Amino acid sequence: EKGGYEHFMLKEMYEQPKAITDTFSPRLKGSEIVIDELNMTDEEIQAIRKIMIVACGSAYHAGVTGKYVFEGMARIPVEVDLASEFRYRDPIMEEGTLVIVISQSGETADSLAALRESKERGAKVLGIVNVVGSSIAREADNVMYTWAGPEIAVATTKAYSSQLIALYLLAIKFGKVKGVVSKEQVYSYIEDLKRLPEQVEMLLNNKVKIQKFANRYLAAHEVFFIGRGIDYAISMEGSLKLKEISYIHSEAYAAGELKHGTISLIEEGTLVAAVLTQKELYKKMISNMVEVSTRGAFVLAVTNEGNDEVERAADYVIYIPETNKFFANSLAIIPLQLFSYYISVGRGCDVDKPRNLAKSVTVE
Ligand code: F6R
Repeated sequence: EKGGYEHFMLKEMYEQPKAITDTFSPRLKGSEIVIDELNMTDEEIQAIRKIMIVACGSAYHAGVTGKYVFEGMARIPVEVDLASEFRYRDPIMEEGTLVIVISQSGETADSLAALRESKERGAKVLGIVNVVGSSIAREADNVMYTWAGPEIAVATTKAYSSQLIALYLLAIKFGKVKGVVSKEQVYSYIEDLKRLPEQVEMLLNNKVKIQKFANRYLAAHEVFFIGRGIDYAISMEGSLKLKEISYIHSEAYAAGELKHGTISLIEEGTLVAAVLTQKELYKKMISNMVEVSTRGAFVLAVTNEGNDEVERAADYVIYIPETNKFFANSLAIIPLQLFSYYISVGRGCDVDKPRNLAKSVTVE
C-alpha cells in the first residue's frame, strides 16, 4: 500500500507533482481559469471587499501564503486567522466579506465551528477541502476540492501543496475579473503553473543530497526558519514539519524581527534555515543571514537559481528553479519537507504517526 516507499510521507511527497496537476488542470480552459464550483458571477467577485481565511496548522500556513498572493496579485485585503482564535474574537464581517475555510480532512472541529460562525454572521463561505463529502465540504456554501487524493501520513505534504494551488487559481481568477491581472499575465501564470509539477519532481530527486545534509543535524536541539514576506509563510510550514515529526524544537521567524529578541538564542552551531525567493528582499535577507552567522549559526539557504550573492552568507545552499514570485512557496517547501523527513528517519521517529498527534483533530 506504500507502493514501495518506506513511509507514507515519502510516498505522498512523491505524489505532489500529480496532486498539483490534478488540482489545476480541471480548472484550466485554454488560456482561462474557470472555477465553476465557485458559483460566483463576475459582479459578485467584483463586490468582494475583504477575504478572511480561517484554518488550523498547515492549512493555516497555506492561508498565510494565500494572503500574500491575494493581496499582491488581486489587490484584495486579506485577514488570516487560526480557526481556534477566530471563533472567539467576535470577527467583523461587513458586506462583501468572503470567508475561505481551508482543511484537508474537512473535519477539524475548530475550522468547522468557524465556518458555522461565519455563516451565522451572514458571510459567504468557500471551503478548500480535500476529503470529498466531509463536514466542511457539506456545510460550506461552495466547495473547491483539492484533488490530492487520500493522505495517510499525519504530517501533510501533498494536501498542503494542492491547497496552495487552489489559492493561486482563485487569486488569478479574482485578479482577472477585477481587472488588475491582464490577459497576458494570466497566460504567463498558467505557463508557470504547468511547469510546477516538473520542477517539484526535480527538487524531490535531490533527496540524497538533502538526506546527507540532514544526517549532520540529527542531534540538533533547535532550528530556526527565517524568511521575509511570502517566505515567512513557508518558514512557518517548514518549522512545523520539522517539529511535528522529529521532535526537535524549532521556530519560524520573520527575518527582520530576529533582532528584537530571538537572536539571543543563536549560538555556535545553531542551524538557521533561511528562505529567500523574493528578489526585492534578497539584500535584506542576506544581511539577516550575516547577523546570525557572525554569531556562530550554520546557515542553510533555500533560494532561486542565479542568486549567487547568497553564497557569501550561507554555509549550504539549495537552489530552486525559477517561477513567478507568487508561486515560489510551492518549490521552496520541497527541500524543507525532505529535510524534516530525513531528520525524523535518522532519529528513528515514527514518521507517519508522530506521538501525540492525530490525522484529523475533531476536538476543540
Ligand atoms: C501538519 C498537519 C496539521 C493540519 C491541521 C489541520 O502537518 O497536518 O497541522 O494541517 O491539523 O487539519 P485539516 O487540514 O484537516 O483541517
